[in-house]
This record gives sequence, structure tokens and C-alpha cells, in this order.
Amino acid sequence: MADKKATLTLEGEAPIELDVLHGTLGENEIDIRTLGSKGLFTFDPGFTSTASCESKITYIDGDEGILLHRGFPIDQLALHSNYLEVCYILLNGEAPTQAQFDEFRTTVTRHTMIHEQINRLFMGFRRDSHPMAVMCGVTGALAAFYHDSLDVNIERHREIAAFRLLSKMPTVAAMCYKYSIGQPFVYPRNDLSYAGNFLNMMFSTPCEEYKVNPVLERAMDRILVLHADHEQNASTSTVRTAGSSGANPFACIAAGIASLWGPAHGGANEACLRMLEEISSVDHIPEFVKRAKDKNDSFRLMGFGHRVYKNYDPRATVMRETCHEVLNELGMKDDLLEVAMELEHIALNDPYFIERKLYPNVDFYSGIILKAMGIPSSMFTVIFAMARTVGWIAHWKEMHDDGIKIARPRQLYTGYDKREFSSQLNKK
Ligand code: SDX
Repeated sequence: MADKKATLTLEGEAPIELDVLHGTLGENEIDIRTLGSKGLFTFDPGFTSTASCESKITYIDGDEGILLHRGFPIDQLALHSNYLEVCYILLNGEAPTQAQFDEFRTTVTRHTMIHEQINRLFMGFRRDSHPMAVMCGVTGALAAFYHDSLDVNIERHREIAAFRLLSKMPTVAAMCYKYSIGQPFVYPRNDLSYAGNFLNMMFSTPCEEYKVNPVLERAMDRILVLHADHEQNASTSTVRTAGSSGANPFACIAAGIASLWGPAHGGANEACLRMLEEISSVDHIPEFVKRAKDKNDSFRLMGFGHRVYKNYDPRATVMRETCHEVLNELGMKDDLLEVAMELEHIALNDPYFIERKLYPNVDFYSGIILKAMGIPSSMFTVIFAMARTVGWIAHWKEMHDDGIKIARPRQLYTGYDKREFSSQLNKK
């Protein structure tokens, strides 16, 4: 909706009137779409002040530390819902009735197997490949297997691709882990929950019966809920950009996985655990906090700071509670949790972090929980990607439903002016 105006005045030029848009919640946004036709462009590397699209899926209030999925607060979903119900909500916009949920769960459960040929794809990777490299490659390769639902202009094809991705990512993720440790792949089981099935594919072996621990199953489901979607983050924007050309959905999700892998984004959970291990004791914290503030040192406190949250990441709060729950219920003590709690306390009272509004984010505690569950740090971002697949799909579908326009940003060119070419090759 636009009921306000902004005026842009360039020296010596007539003022330009622009609409000011405002959504249901959030900041007002100046509609600059007409500037291009007037030969004017805006400059905003990293999109720190630019909205790339309109969306109804997720809302974040960074100052208040609020995260809503289709209007439902994340803490309520994490405590009272489950991952598949949140998937339904993200994809369809409303909470499902029991009948709708049962049908959705049955469809997801019935598509968890992957084509047997794909097992051979794994054999092309070294056993010590990073699981994110394998997940990215295998997910992209799924595009080569599903030709019957490739016309992204057909809604039913988009729906089939969405279900296949949501169903098969846990299977691919667990296969990445099994391949890395030289154990046989474990087939999905339709009698287990989404989280329970993933844990079974990760940890069961043909040699003995594996019983899913309900504490770990609940914790894993909550971790999946907390990572499901987060509006226009780097990887979701990557999926939207890739999808804006009409690209294959599996290839778009592979692009999202690639972007998420970066340590500034989804790779932060793995980097955060490595950082806590490097700090190793509360006595060493001051030295690392000093390094994090030193502009000449590239070290940053992993799991701290966020482009949007200038308050506590509401997911970190739930994650911290879950961390205590899991460790207590497993009767485990983890020195890294002690280091994390002290690091959080010190940083939250240090002017450098306070002035820059740097708070713990979703990645700060997740690694400690996953480690307590017996999951290696190299698999942390794989689990983040598995959880975020539903968010990527929801945005990819919304973009198609709204009518896609290819993403093609402009630039500020600061290279050479036109000049004559003369080759320097073969000259004495
Ligand atoms: C995720 O976008 C999303 O929604 C992502 C995500 C999702 O669910 O999809 O929430 C998941 O990616 C969470 C973020 C995980 N990344 C990390 O924990 C890595 C550590 N954090 C930083 O790299 C950083 O905070 C970012 C990348 C998350 C945000 O960077 P910005 O918004 O570009 O901020 P910036 O780099 O401009 O920093 C502003 C200031 C700078 O200092 P000054 O130049 O102003 O003096 O804060 C400093 C930075 O040096 N700073 C940090 C810091 N993060 C920012 N200093 C020390 N440690 C940090 N972690």
C-alpha cells in the first residue's frame, strides 16, 4: 500500500515524486522502481537498505527481536508445534487441520527414498569431502533424475518438486554423514517421525537395533523448527535469484546450500563450535574478545551479530534453553557450554558489542546441542540446510506464484574508460 510520498531532488533537476510503501508490519519503503526509466540508479552493496521483494512468509523485527512465521511467533512454534506442521504453515500460510496435517505428513513420508542410482553419485566423492560439498553436489544432481516435474510454470510440478525436496533432504543429509564414516546407507523408515527418521538414518547400523531417544528426537525437531526460515537471508535470496530465471528447483536449492555454507551465514554454527574449542577455557575469553575487537585481526566472535537483529535473536533464546534441557536430560556436562555462557556474559557487557548491538544469534548454541547429540561439527551446516530447505522452497514457490521477474541488479562502474586495444603478445 502507498499512501505517502517521498520527493527525490537532484541538483539542477526537477524533483521526482516516489511512492512510499508500507506492509502489514515493518519499516516504510520507498518505491524506486521508476528511477531506472529516468536513468537513475541506487547503490546498496549487500542490500543493507534495500528490499528485494514482497513476501507474506516471515517477518523479523530486528530491534525488538521478533520472528513470525505467517504471523505465528517462533517461540510458540518451537514450544508447541513440530517441524512438519511448521513446514505446512510456511508453505500454505495457515495452520493445518488434523486431516490436512495427516495428508501432508503421509505425502512427505512416502517420498523419502531417493533413486538407487544416486548412491553411485556418492562414490565419486572422497570419503573425507566436507559433507556440505557432497550435499550441494548430490542435491544439484537430483535435477538429473526428476524430469517428470520440471516445468516450473505448472503449479502441480512446483508442488511435486517441493514435496520431493522436503522429503529427500534428510535422506541425502544422512547419506552424506554415513558416506564420510564409511558406514552403509540406512533407508528411511515410514513408521518414524521426520526428526526420528533422520536420527535413525544417521546413527542406526545393520548390526544392532537402534532406538530413537525421545529427548534427542524432540531436540532435533526443535532445531529444525528454529532453522526453517528467516525471510530474505543470503541463501534464500540466492534461491530466489537462481529461481528468477526459471531454473530447475533442485538446482536452485543447491545454490542455496552453497550460499548457506559460508562461515558468515549458515557455516557459523560449525565455526562457532571450533571457536569455543579454541578458546577452551573461560580464562582465555578476554584474549579472544580483544581479538574480535581488533580491526587488524580478521577474527570475529562466531555466533554473534546479525544483519537484522540488533537485539537478542529469539531463536538463540530457545536454543539456549534447549541446550540446558538436552545436557541435563542426558546427564551430560559440557565445558564448552560454560565457556559459551561466560563469553555471552562478557560480550553482552562490553561497550564494543553493546554499541554495535551484537548479540548471540541462532548459531551460538546450536553447535553445543548437536555435539551433545553425537553429531560431528562438519554436519552442523548440513542440518541447517536440511531445516532451511522448506524456507527456500516456500520463497521459491511464492516468487513463482507472484509472477517471476529475473533478478538483474545494476552496478557502479569504476573501471577504465574506453581505450584502444593493442596486444602485448609475441612482442620482443
Ligand atoms: C545466520 O541473515 C540471516 O537471517 C542469517 C541467519 C538465517 O537464519 O538465515 O540468521 C543465519 O547467518 C546468522 C549469522 C551467523 N554468522 C555469524 O555468527 C558470523 C559472525 N557474525 C558476523 O560475521 C556478522 O555479524 C554478520 C555477517 C552476521 C552480520 O554482518 P553485517 O550486518 O554486515 O555487519 P558488519 O559486518 O557491518 O558489522 C558491523 C560492525 C563492524 O564493526 P565496525 O566496522 O562498525 O567497527 O560490527 C562488527 C564489525 O566489525 N561485528 C563483529 C561481529 N559481527 C559484526 N565484531 C566481532 N564479532 C562479530 N561476530
